Amino acid sequence: MRDLTPKRSDLDPIEIASRDEIAALQLDRMKWSLRHAYENVPFYRASFDKAGAHPDDLKSLADLSRFPFTTKSDLRDNYPFGMFAVPREKVVRIHASSGTTGKPTVVGYTAQDVDNWASLVARSMRASGTRPGDIVHIAYGYGLFTGGLGAHYGAEKLGCTVVPVSGGMTERQITLIEDFRPTTIMVTPSYMLAILDVYRAMGLDPRKSPLEVGIFGAEPWTNAMREEVEQAFDMHAVDIYGLSEVMGPGVANECVETKDGLHVWEDHFYPEVIDPETGEPVAEGEQGELVFTTLTKEALPIVRYRTRDLTRLLPGTARSMRRMEKITGRSDDMIILRGVNVFPTQIEEQILKVDGLSPHFQIELTRAGRMDCLTVHVEALPAAATAEAKAASARDLVHRVKSVVGVSVDVDVTDPGGVARSQGKAVRVVDNRPKG
Ligand code: DLL
Repeated sequence: MRDLTPKRSDLDPIEIASRDEIAALQLDRMKWSLRHAYENVPFYRASFDKAGAHPDDLKSLADLSRFPFTTKSDLRDNYPFGMFAVPREKVVRIHASSGTTGKPTVVGYTAQDVDNWASLVARSMRASGTRPGDIVHIAYGYGLFTGGLGAHYGAEKLGCTVVPVSGGMTERQITLIEDFRPTTIMVTPSYMLAILDVYRAMGLDPRKSPLEVGIFGAEPWTNAMREEVEQAFDMHAVDIYGLSEVMGPGVANECVETKDGLHVWEDHFYPEVIDPETGEPVAEGEQGELVFTTLTKEALPIVRYRTRDLTRLLPGTARSMRRMEKITGRSDDMIILRGVNVFPTQIEEQILKVDGLSPHFQIELTRAGRMDCLTVHVEALPAAATAEAKAASARDLVHRVKSVVGVSVDVDVTDPGGVARSQGKAVRVVDNRPKG
């Protein structure tokens, strides 16, 4: 793997500014953002008034904790355009996330918002090791999902040649990679694994692919998965984070030279970590739920948005801006199995330690009598697909999950190809427990 550390002179000056400079900019922008929300969105006026908080009360960044949280259901209640802080005609773009229940969450962007977003994705890509002039293959879905278009505008802004493939048709993805020779790919980590399998099935050596950088996000993935993909493709695998309510991809990104968590682009987003039960801010560096306040968004300012994502905040390293640790999971993805909290990422880590197993897996929940049961369906590697090898891999995984995660699970090792492939965000948990 080549050293792709960007030159310091190529960074936005604020990325390496002093903490004082960053905090001063944040305070100015936060004052503007709270006022903008209060004056233009009836929902915020009502919720601030109810909490007895007024934008004039914000004298320091810490005063933000006096303001109320915003949740996904607030966005749903104001479906479709009720959260917009500008006249609808000023909104040049709409995105939406489907979610599993009820109405989608709708988000909007002014021309300035789209431009800021592109700049932040460009910054994220540069941090990942992508350079102006590179060819970039985008396999995030295009459409209402923010992944495809978000990546696209950022790559153009950085000055790249963009190949807007979107998800699906995996053989064609590989033909395009081999023919157009992109050096960067932007795709969900689970779909990258599907691409890897088809690469091999087509008789090609993934280590000889032109790819040097993968910018993976939109779902949780582990450092074990990073190792797997970096080895398989001989490329850098870098984490990109974002959510539509706050913007889309490019809220935070890892740096290729450190790969030690994601720097939050704090000049546009103010992060907090709270205790999900009490709503109180946790101590510096403690785990909890990530909360964001946007500092520059015009069409959809968001104040203290509860992401449900679990992580912790750490000081800056390669940049002055703070890092968030790789996300463990969402509070809604957490499985409580006989009293023990289990995240799909914990299962993923253990699967990747078993020699005979591929990284393709799905978790199924069922109920036997009063007991909840968790079955891990996971594929054998082609070289370990005999009945004896599969049984040995299953025993190994059961043992590792029991001793590291602390729960007894069932393991079903399938033949290669036995687990449904993701073409975007992977569905990691299927709940087949009786309802009610
Ligand atoms: O997934 C935006 C995105 C697109 C990010 C492409 C990165 C790359 P939503 O569909 O609104 O937006 O889903 C947001 O996805 O709250 C997290 O739970 C999860 N997520 C996104 N990035 C990561 C990541 C896009 N790097 C939700 N690690 C978020 C873990 C992630 N989870």
